[in-house]
Amino acid sequence: MFPETVLRSRRLVLRAFGNGDIPDTRASCSDPITQRWLPLPRPYTLDDATAWCTTTAHAMRDSGDGIQFAITDAGTKRLMGQVGLKKTDWRALVSEVGYWVSPWARGHGIAAEATRTLAHWLLTDQCFQRMELRAATENTASQAVALKAGFHREGTLRNAGFVHGAQVDLVLFSLLPGDLRPSLRPAGGHTLAAMTEERRRDPAAQRRRDTRLHS
Ligand SMILES: CC(C)(COP(=O)(O)OP(=O)(O)OC[C@H]1O[C@@H](n2cnc3c(N)ncnc32)[C@H](O)[C@@H]1OP(=O)(O)O)[C@@H](O)C(=O)NCCC(=O)NCCS
Repeated sequence: MFPETVLRSRRLVLRAFGNGDIPDTRASCSDPITQRWLPLPRPYTLDDATAWCTTTAHAMRDSGDGIQFAITDAGTKRLMGQVGLKKTDWRALVSEVGYWVSPWARGHGIAAEATRTLAHWLLTDQCFQRMELRAATENTASQAVALKAGFHREGTLRNAGFVHGAQVDLVLFSLLPGDLRPSLRPAGGHTLAAMTEERRRDPAAQRRRDTRLHS
């Protein structure tokens, strides 16, 4: 499983969801644009928001499936969205990013900034080899986010998604460690290769090493 962590960028703090996020999560996930593109409960109730913030988001990390972050404003601390990893393949070191941005925070490049921050953590600190992103062919806002975050468009997956009763085609994007800006790549190719191999063979050993490094 991924280690619990807090990530920071110029404008944002990415941290675990908590009780205080319940009202804003409910408002964000009830929003018609969020509802249009994500297979969320409809209507999205206070119970749904409570379950996500206190249980479901944390269970995804515990199960090894991924890790979920609340995107918050570094200044005001208000919730601005969600970004997270899912469908993690620990052997291939591949994981898929997903996100929504709260209606009050849209149009300011928040999703791209949060996705880039998470990508650097995944592809450097966590030594993963590929981050995937899938967006419905008609979800142009999400595809704009993918390109702004530096992803490469790989092609269309026919009938690969399901949103509120309808099959949709998905555009597949990917980001590899070599796609990150050189200044943000980890130093020492040999060290990185060794760490990656260690993570593949024995994820627990890698976690123990990470804990030592960060303590
Ligand atoms: C897709 C989404 C995450 C984009 O977040 P964002 O932080 O607003 O992204 P950006 O500010 O980079 O804007 C991306 C695009 O959204 C559109 N946009 C701009 N302002 C907007 C606004 N006020 N409201 C809605 N969309 C807007 C523009 O097309 C923009 O592209 P451009 O900057 O090249 O013109 C957000 O619209 C959202 O939460 N959508 C619903 C959930 C969703 O689709 N998740 C992704 C599933 S794959």
